[in-house]
Amino acid sequence: MSDTTTHLTKAPAGATDREPILSVRGLVKHFPLTQGILFRKQVGAVKAVDGVDFDLYQGETLGIVGESGCGKSTVARLLMNLETPTAGQVLYKGEDITKLTGKALKVVRRNIQMVFQDPYTSLNPRMTVGDIIGEPYEIHPEVAPKGDRRKAVEDLLDVVGLNPEYINRYPHQFSGGQRQRIGIARGLALRPEIIVADEPVSALDVSVQAQVVNLMGRLQDEFNLSYMFIAHDLSIVRHISDRVGVMYLGKVVEIGNDDQIYEHPTHPYTQALLSAVPVPDPDARDRRERIILVGDVPSPANPPSGCRFRTRCWKAQERCTLEEPLLAVPAVFRGLDSPAAHDSACHFAEEKQVVPTEE
Ligand SMILES: Nc1ncnc2c1ncn2[C@@H]1O[C@H](COP(=O)(O)OP(=O)(O)OP(=O)(O)O)[C@@H](O)[C@H]1O
Ligand code: SF4
Ligand SMILES: [Mg+2]
Repeated sequence: MSDTTTHLTKAPAGATDREPILSVRGLVKHFPLTQGILFRKQVGAVKAVDGVDFDLYQGETLGIVGESGCGKSTVARLLMNLETPTAGQVLYKGEDITKLTGKALKVVRRNIQMVFQDPYTSLNPRMTVGDIIGEPYEIHPEVAPKGDRRKAVEDLLDVVGLNPEYINRYPHQFSGGQRQRIGIARGLALRPEIIVADEPVSALDVSVQAQVVNLMGRLQDEFNLSYMFIAHDLSIVRHISDRVGVMYLGKVVEIGNDDQIYEHPTHPYTQALLSAVPVPDPDARDRRERIILVGDVPSPANPPSGCRFRTRCWKAQERCTLEEPLLAVPAVFRGLDSPAAHDSACHFAEEKQVVPTEE
């Protein structure tokens, strides 16, 4: 298992002096792999999340990106307390929510809401949108509007750009983008502080993705929300994120602000992901270098020793096999007043501008 305990009290480098609203420290989730029918015995574990640290600050959007299976949704479920971690902490305003039960857990659940990827399956087809959006009030009557609940739901429809007269319609009567708006309205019903959005636009047409992202940006200002926005594409999170964390095989490998990650990436994996991002300007597109990663993502049940990315990294050396790089400001950049001086888990971190700036 990775070195998780050393991270428990350390704030990630680059953190500001603001208090985070949500902090993750040494978060681990291993799913047991079992064998046998009568006598089930554990033969291994899928290391879905294997030592993750990050902070989410009030009012910011933290984007989390990475290929399929790297553990993004598992992190989201751990934040929502829908899974019990194998190790580590999820601190909401300093309190470890993984230890909470009963009423205290209910209060936290109300303040952290989730928006899901697939607007087609995440809404109950037999309920009207009014009942879907108003359902959280049944679970949390303590924060339900005192007077007219129907009016509160109509207001929520209006806020997400849907006609309040649609309140009695069913999910199948809406387009994908409209259904995601319904999911967002439901997420807002309890006036949460944090929204964890797990690939909220991945299932939508490209033309609709921007509309939903823009809506989320507007709602963030209006309701003073903090977002964790999960995607597998760096281009989608760029427009909405203040900071971005890049995950690979259960770990965050690089994290920084927009400028640091997009203009000054230092981790080879981030550089490879960025090299695949669409570039609208044809001249810049011709000048940019495409980094094609060879090989498949290794199994999270048996991650490579040392640096997990080494089996696909064009810069890998012997040290990468022997020693796991920690997520910290690399020694070459430490103390420098440079955007390259941000957390990057690579022994041989160096700047590489992958996407050329327009001339
Ligand atoms: N309940 C579970 N039992 C066993 N393995 C699981 C379970 N949930 C997730 N996993 C495994 O954990 C790893 C991480 O899964 P996760 O869904 O978090 O990835 P992801 O980054 O969200 O992927 P995607 O982009 O496809 O949504 C995968 O290998 C997955 O198969
Ligand atoms: S530590 Fe080594 S293998 Fe890992 S990303 Fe850096 S150079 Fe590549
Ligand atoms: Mg997922």
